Amino acid sequence: MASAARFINIADLRLGAKRRLPRVAFDYIDGGADAEVTLRENNRAFEDIAFRPRSAVATRTCDLATTVLGTTLDLPFILAPVGSSRMFYPRGEEVAAHAAGEAGTGYILSTLSGCTVKDVKAATRGPVWYQLYLVGGHDVAMGAIERAKAVGCAALVVTIDTPVAGLRERDHRNGMKGLASSKPLEMLPHILQFLARPRWLAAYLADGGLMKFPNVVLPSGPMPYADVTAALEASMVSWDDLRWIRDAWQGKVVVKGVHTADDARQAMDAGADAVVVSNHGGRQLDGVAATIRVLPEIVAAVQRQNPQVEVLLDSGIRRGGDVVKALCMGARAVLIGRAYAYGLGAAGGPGVTRAIQILRTDIVRTLQLLGVGSTAALDGSFVDVPPAWLTPRP
Ligand code: GLV
Repeated sequence: MASAARFINIADLRLGAKRRLPRVAFDYIDGGADAEVTLRENNRAFEDIAFRPRSAVATRTCDLATTVLGTTLDLPFILAPVGSSRMFYPRGEEVAAHAAGEAGTGYILSTLSGCTVKDVKAATRGPVWYQLYLVGGHDVAMGAIERAKAVGCAALVVTIDTPVAGLRERDHRNGMKGLASSKPLEMLPHILQFLARPRWLAAYLADGGLMKFPNVVLPSGPMPYADVTAALEASMVSWDDLRWIRDAWQGKVVVKGVHTADDARQAMDAGADAVVVSNHGGRQLDGVAATIRVLPEIVAAVQRQNPQVEVLLDSGIRRGGDVVKALCMGARAVLIGRAYAYGLGAAGGPGVTRAIQILRTDIVRTLQLLGVGSTAALDGSFVDVPPAWLTPRP
């Protein structure tokens, strides 16, 4: 494989993933819910923010170190939970976690992943957080919590924006359901897209094919891939569940999927140590605002109620400049999802490493051009934000 250095930006990695993956796998990463309005808006809204640089300031070194929930990372971004990563590359979750650790940052393992939390933890020297869905109910979640605790996961990330699965139209068109059924007759109409990517197919089959979720251990064994949608729909997390999860975990809890000041307050009342401003990358409720648009409202609510709680932002990050804007606006760090998943799909581990490198060098260059020597020194004075975003909400 040619060197991953040929990918200049995340959009290049996206094209690389499109070339290497069958349509169903590429669209699973790339697509969003319904008309994909929120998916597009997450990216576009960063364009509404303008930088205010301080020129003629020499910044020879740039310190990107960021402390998140007590752990110091070399970068102000963490790899977000992305399900089914073995569909993109053999042992995808381990490969991505390893690349994160080598780059000095953390990795969040999705409940709906193809590698065990134990193997993922062993694959990286960076911190691993476990993302929890209540698929299978409280007893099944308890098993996952215990396994995550036993291997030393540093935090639990509870996703609250998935009471039902969003309608990912591309997945339906591509026959994701039939392909996941493992029933030859249902798979048949959609199988051509696999044959169009023989190198991917050979690697996927050699990796065993993704047919089960080993971190969701039901009484009958690991949950089959075919059952995922129904299981997800029966797994809604209520604020009471969150309190139960907190007591069961007895460690740092991150609530992911917060979109309003009110939900941030509820999350804090339920004992969250951090909230992630996230709309699931535009994969759930289409038509909600971009996360960067609602970040000021949530930062203000957290500042008022409990400034110890950390605010993270996810959804829409494609450039280091986007990361810098979010930090200026009060995010402690951001999560990147598609940005690294494209890298994984395009070129495996080197592709993830390249995605991280691209964002890191973007951030350093942006800080130097802004005339600031560290991410810790960023604040609201470095950006112009549309005034409507700053209007206080009741
Ligand atoms: C699962 O959480 C997904 O977004 O596909």
